[in-house]
Amino acid sequence: MYDKVYIESYGCQMNLADSEVVCAILQREGYSIVDAVEDADYVMINTCAIRENAEQRIRKRVRELRALQSRHQQLRIGIFGCMAERLQSQLMAEEDNVSFVVGPDAYRRMPEILRQVREGVRTADTELSTTETYADIEPVRLHSNGISAFVSIMRGCQNYCAYCVVPYTRGRERSRDPETIVAEARQLFDNGYKEVTLLGQNVNSYRHSDAEEHMTSFPELMRRVAEISPLLRVRFATSHPKDLSDELLQVMAAYPNICRCIHLPVQSGSDRMLKLMNRHYTAQWYLDRVDAIRRYMPDCSITTDVIAGFCSETEEDHQATLDMFRRVRYDYAYMFKYSMRPDTFAHRHMVDDIDEAEKTRRLEEIIALQGQIALENNQKEIGRTYEVLVEGRSHRSDKQLFGRNSQNKVIVFDREDAQPGTYVNVTVTSCTAATLLGKIEK
Ligand code: SAH
Ligand code: SF4
Ligand code: F3S
Repeated sequence: MYDKVYIESYGCQMNLADSEVVCAILQREGYSIVDAVEDADYVMINTCAIRENAEQRIRKRVRELRALQSRHQQLRIGIFGCMAERLQSQLMAEEDNVSFVVGPDAYRRMPEILRQVREGVRTADTELSTTETYADIEPVRLHSNGISAFVSIMRGCQNYCAYCVVPYTRGRERSRDPETIVAEARQLFDNGYKEVTLLGQNVNSYRHSDAEEHMTSFPELMRRVAEISPLLRVRFATSHPKDLSDELLQVMAAYPNICRCIHLPVQSGSDRMLKLMNRHYTAQWYLDRVDAIRRYMPDCSITTDVIAGFCSETEEDHQATLDMFRRVRYDYAYMFKYSMRPDTFAHRHMVDDIDEAEKTRRLEEIIALQGQIALENNQKEIGRTYEVLVEGRSHRSDKQLFGRNSQNKVIVFDREDAQPGTYVNVTVTSCTAATLLGKIEK
């Protein structure tokens, strides 16, 4: 009997959530999930294709696994997720130790695919769907601490940002039935969870019509999830700036348990770049959205993603990005060098003409500026008191715990008698650029 599966996940939160779905699909067919790669009959890698280095890392990992395969002849290796979708047969041809390749909409077939693999058939299924949302599958919470969990609310993306591979790896956008989302969140709360993060590539375009043509929008869905309990924190990722509506901000402001944190990827501060990137907003329009967030929720943190060195980016464009960072003063940013992805619009119609050293220089400038802003933002937090959801022991010391406030900032504090999974009030006493330190209020 070959029934032990080891799952390794790369990429974004949606990929982590998908691994939990795959795990559920396999467990219900009698497979068990093991924690040590050495114990596995199948090593399955959930892959990301967003940047070239993400793919290189996975290729390297697949090659490393050869050593394990030579010791364990029955071990079979499978690749699933976005890189599986993008490379399909190429992966099978180039990595002869890979037995199966499965795209993001074919996970229900995973048990059947594993059976074929056992019969000696190498298999690929990368069919995309316009309807699959895995709505009826209760994920096995692989990536959870029992306090906070992901809930996928939609799949796919059709924004076609010029640089991005996701529309090609995840297919058309589709929204999951809200009844199943609310039921899953309620069950998590009943099982002791205190925080859910609703996931989609562009959650603001969530929109679901039922058989009676009743339409549920994202703000409406948020309201329903927030009403499960005031003790359940609700987060979401990601919202596209072009779709960040006042209605959503009003719903957020009305429910204190909807967390005061919006991830609003800007990508660039230059209008010329934003147009080339096909982002559908200007720098001024983005800044107006930031003003709207602060009007409705003055205590809301704002985080972002940015790309340095996209096709034809000039020094002036780069300066516009730095300017955007100075004006918004993000609490956190994911910062990337542009990586050309095959088959995207940029690959077909533009030239990746900023050399690597220049991309690095621009990225480092953004990182340095953001580091300084994050530190200054954190210094302003000293003396403020926050409700913190305790998540666990601090890495530094047994005597300390860590948790996050509504703004998603990590706070480390002396344990006292606090327990993970509960809320405590913590006053910030000092900070670094990445972490706040505090003490529990009695
Ligand atoms: N759906 C989300 C982002 C998903 S990808 C959104 O639109 O906000 C996460 C981030 O990776 C993007 O926001 C972008 O900053 C970055 N990214 C995407 N494609 C990239 C590429 N080809 N090179 C570098 N960074 C990229
Ligand atoms: Fe990619 Fe743009 Fe879709 Fe985000 S919105 S996943 S960046 S195409
Ligand atoms: Fe990567 Fe796919 Fe997510 S490309 S970032 S795992 S949607």
